[in-house]
Amino acid sequence: MKLSGRTEVYGIVGYPVKHSLSPIFQNASFEYFCIDGVYVPFEVKPENFREAFFGLKALGVKGVNITVPFKEKAFEFCDFSDEHSALIGAVNTVKFADKIEGYNTDWIGFLKALKDTEGSIKGKKVLVLGAGGTSKAVLYALSKEDCYIFLWNRTREKALELTKKFPAELVAKPEDALDSVDIIVNTTSVGLSEDEPPLFDYDKIKEKHTVFDVIYKNTYLLRKASEKGAKVQNGLGMLIYQGVESFKIWTGLEVPISIVKESLPASVLS
Ligand code: ATR
Repeated sequence: MKLSGRTEVYGIVGYPVKHSLSPIFQNASFEYFCIDGVYVPFEVKPENFREAFFGLKALGVKGVNITVPFKEKAFEFCDFSDEHSALIGAVNTVKFADKIEGYNTDWIGFLKALKDTEGSIKGKKVLVLGAGGTSKAVLYALSKEDCYIFLWNRTREKALELTKKFPAELVAKPEDALDSVDIIVNTTSVGLSEDEPPLFDYDKIKEKHTVFDVIYKNTYLLRKASEKGAKVQNGLGMLIYQGVESFKIWTGLEVPISIVKESLPASVLS
């Protein structure tokens, strides 16, 4: 990568961001198109987010991805938001033009990735675990496909709040919906670390299920689901597709998925 006086700066803003794969594949995308651009991590403490966000515009940064825990705050700070982020209430992609433009590509990333495993999901029955920021994008995507959604969250009130925006049937425990659904989606952070107790008895997963975990590794949930003969997918595809969509928003160019995958370490692809 060669930098010049004209290099355009992009990046990812979050806390933490050290683990992020986005700088790897977004820089590969700039290189693929021979664009004089660079994508850097910006780890910002929550108390500094406002200053950092508007500072990025002042510095002439062209665009950023926004990740945990700033997606909702960034949405509030944008001058304009696309129809999807307006309905989700969160942005993961910002373009600094004359105005600050906010977009959400998480939902389309999720949908494309799930369809890779499941084919059409039109009208399917889905259990969604979790009611945080990621869950909103997932619920939005599923409701666009007319899925029937069962929603479970550890903190019931948060799930109840989401049903005001996205039609879903609340369940008291995940097991209550297992027999009824085709697809199970984990949007919680459970599984990131190996020592957390499971969300439910994973032995109850059946061969008929497709299990999608937004965490981009082979979690205990996915390993158990595989054992049971279910189809499984981790969050890497979602991450890649949302990133490709963000890149398209900034540059108008669509990078081939193969270029993104080739740039990633073998350990995350296995
Ligand atoms: P994100 O933006 O990644 O979705 P988030 O908004 O902090 O992150 O949401 C985290 C989700 O993981 C929430 O649904 C949270 O449940 P609560 O609403 O009850 O906090 C869920 N979560 C985190 N740790 C959990 C645990 N140990 N058991 C069950 N759910 C958990």
